[in-house]
Amino acid sequence: MKVDFSEVQGIIRTCRRVTSRHLIFRFDSGRGARAFIRELAERITMADGDPNSAPDPLLNVGMTFNGLQALEVDQAMLGEFDAVFRLGPPTVKMALGDVPGSRSDPANWWENRFATDDVHCLVHLYAQSDDAAADAVQAVRQLADSTGVTELIPRRDGTILSGRWFAVRKMHFGYTDGISQPDIFWDDETPPRSPEQIDFRNFLLGYSTDKYASAPSSGAAADFARNSTYGLFRWIYQDVAAFNQFLAVQGPELFPELPAADAEELLAAKMMGRWRDGTPLVLSPERPDPQLAKSNDFNYAIGDPDGQRCPFSAHIRIVNPRDTPLDPVVVEGVPRVLRCGMPYGAPLQGTTDDGADRGLVGMFLCADLRKVVHSLTSWVMRNDFSPVYNANRRVQDPLFGNRAMPGTRAEFSIPRVGGEVTVKSLPDFVHTKGTAFLFYPGKTALIGLSQGAG
Ligand code: HEM
Repeated sequence: MKVDFSEVQGIIRTCRRVTSRHLIFRFDSGRGARAFIRELAERITMADGDPNSAPDPLLNVGMTFNGLQALEVDQAMLGEFDAVFRLGPPTVKMALGDVPGSRSDPANWWENRFATDDVHCLVHLYAQSDDAAADAVQAVRQLADSTGVTELIPRRDGTILSGRWFAVRKMHFGYTDGISQPDIFWDDETPPRSPEQIDFRNFLLGYSTDKYASAPSSGAAADFARNSTYGLFRWIYQDVAAFNQFLAVQGPELFPELPAADAEELLAAKMMGRWRDGTPLVLSPERPDPQLAKSNDFNYAIGDPDGQRCPFSAHIRIVNPRDTPLDPVVVEGVPRVLRCGMPYGAPLQGTTDDGADRGLVGMFLCADLRKVVHSLTSWVMRNDFSPVYNANRRVQDPLFGNRAMPGTRAEFSIPRVGGEVTVKSLPDFVHTKGTAFLFYPGKTALIGLSQGAG
């Protein structure tokens, strides 16, 4: 079986552009929605050809479950979709860590401008320049106007969500991103080149097997969804001033033997599992090494069984535990996601907040959304998937956990030779401002949706 890329939206292969725009829409009538999708389908960047040299903009479109309902997709068919996708983000808020009453409470998402239930469709535009992005936005808005589709503006100041790399692959908090992506084999007829390569069924719908389950799993619904994918879309605010302040105070306290600036860097690295240039701690625990900044060739159980190089709760050790032993009671395996997010907002230096909005427009693509939400995002909030974690002292991802999560401690333990050091009261560094579960239709589904599937 070889995947036909002309059937798949390009976002699965690339979103490498300088800047992005994310337009949010509500469908007010099935007819208008179908006309919108029909016209848009002509402009979608598919995954064939060389996506890296495709002309601006890269355009991709995803619909929520409510969006598919508004498009009047057959109810029996919709019932076959992934359970978490059907429930929608507010219903699974605890697995996402969006605890009611905290700053991530879904009740406050989208800056209170509209309800998550009203989000039906997102159009993602990626471009090499702001001018190209502005033209693309205008063209999509014209289409929405002419088909009676309503744009939802998620910010009180009237601006839309837009991402931008402000330095090469640098994110807020100073880390480098885009190093680790699953290496996918798209062609069963050619065996994988290495054991690390991952089956495309982890990402594409319509090929469900016992080993790589996805929903819809069979029948007409699976035929409809073939070559589509799911996406978890997260608008995440990052509090850079609080993070910098934390490093400045805690770094020298935890590592008094180091000069203050080095102590800050070491603490930042321990929280991520990589130095800010990307060097994995497992490979170089003492200092960043430019030769290793893009390295992805490492494991934990063999290279660092005690967490003395990379703490067990470091971000990358949670979201891709690699060879870490998993708890057989709670775990059905580690889902892999394709990440195509981008930072948004201007960078901030120092420890004084300027009140501006900044963070990550996070996008995580997968075929099994239920598994991603109930494992990856839930593990970030509560480290409970492996015997390496203390079952009597449940902790979180030190960077991205919501400290209001019940049954967890806002602590971060850093094992070291001679005993561990612990940060006792981690602050919140992020909060969620909006979430959508999206279905990115492949070609068959796009045609079906344009015409009125079912
Ligand atoms: C503001 C929020 C977040 C930021 C700034 C962030 C940043 C980063 C950075 C800098 C890396 C290391 C670079 C790399 O390995 O390519 C990384 C890796 C990763 N992140 Fe996040 N992340 C965030 C939230 C999340 C969430 C919520 C998830 C889970 C759904 C996640 C999943 C991953 C995965 C799977 C990796 C690759 C790990 C590996 O393969 O070793 N991230 N993230």
